[in-house]
Amino acid sequence: MLLMMMMSAMMCHMVKSKEHFVGGSEFGWVPLPANNLTNWSLNEHFHLNDWLYFGYDRRYFNVLEVNKTSYENCIDAGFLKNVSGGAGRDVFQLTKEKTYYFLSGGGYCRRGLKVAIDVNDYVAPAPAPTPHKSGASALDAYNIYHSLVVLILILMCSNFLG
Ligand SMILES: *[C@@H]1O[C@H](CO)[C@@H](O)[C@H](O)[C@H]1NC(C)=O
Ligand SMILES: *[C@@H]1O[C@H](CO)[C@@H](O)[C@H](O)[C@H]1NC(C)=O
Ligand SMILES: *[C@@H]1O[C@H](CO)[C@@H](O)[C@H](O)[C@H]1NC(C)=O
Ligand SMILES: *[C@@H]1O[C@H](CO)[C@@H](O)[C@H](O)[C@H]1NC(C)=O
Repeated sequence: MLLMMMMSAMMCHMVKSKEHFVGGSEFGWVPLPANNLTNWSLNEHFHLNDWLYFGYDRRYFNVLEVNKTSYENCIDAGFLKNVSGGAGRDVFQLTKEKTYYFLSGGGYCRRGLKVAIDVNDYVAPAPAPTPHKSGASALDAYNIYHSLVVLILILMCSNFLG
C-alpha cells in the first residue's frame, strides 16, 4: 500500500515537471507597473524540478540568483548565480525544496524586478488505519483505508496540477 502510494506520488511528479513563465507571460520579467512579480509568485505553485523561464529585454535587464538578504535590499553584487545567458531568454531548474530569490541588476530591482520562488513539495503522511468499530470486519477497515489512500492521492495530484 505504502509502495503504491509512493509510486503514484512519483508519477504525479513526473507528469508535473512544469515550466513557469516568470511574470505569467513570455516577456514577463519586467518591472512595476508593467508587472507585479510578487503577486504573480503568490498565485503560482512551484514544485521540485519545475523550470522557470525568464523572458526579457536583454538591453536593460538580467537575472541573478541572490540570497534572502540581497533580495530584500536589492543588492546585486556578490550574487549566487548569474542566470543570464545573454539572449534575454533564460531557464532555471528548481532542484531544491527551498525559497529561491532572483533579481535584476541595473537598478531595476528597486522598481520591482525581483521575485521569490517558494518550492514546496509537501506530501501528506500516510494516514493511520482507521480504528474499526466493533462489528466492522477487518476487511471493512481495509476498504476504508484503501479508499482514503486513493482519495489522498487524487487530492495530491490535483494539488500538483493546480
Ligand atoms: C494578482 O494576480 C491575480 C492572479 O494572477 C490577478 O487576478 C490580480 O488582479 C493580481 N492583483 C494585483 C494587485 O496585481
Ligand atoms: C503587488 O502584489 C502584492 C501581492 O498581491 C501586493 O501586496 C502589492 O501591493 C502589489 N504591489 C503593487 C506596487 O501593486
Ligand atoms: C548574502 O550575500 C551577500 C552578498 O554576497 C553577502 O554579503 C551576505 O553575507 C550574504 N548573506 C547571507 C546570510 O549569506
Ligand atoms: C552573466 O553572464 C552573461 C553571459 O555570459 C554575461 O553577458 C553577463 O555580463 C553576466 N552578468 C554578470 C552580472 O556577471
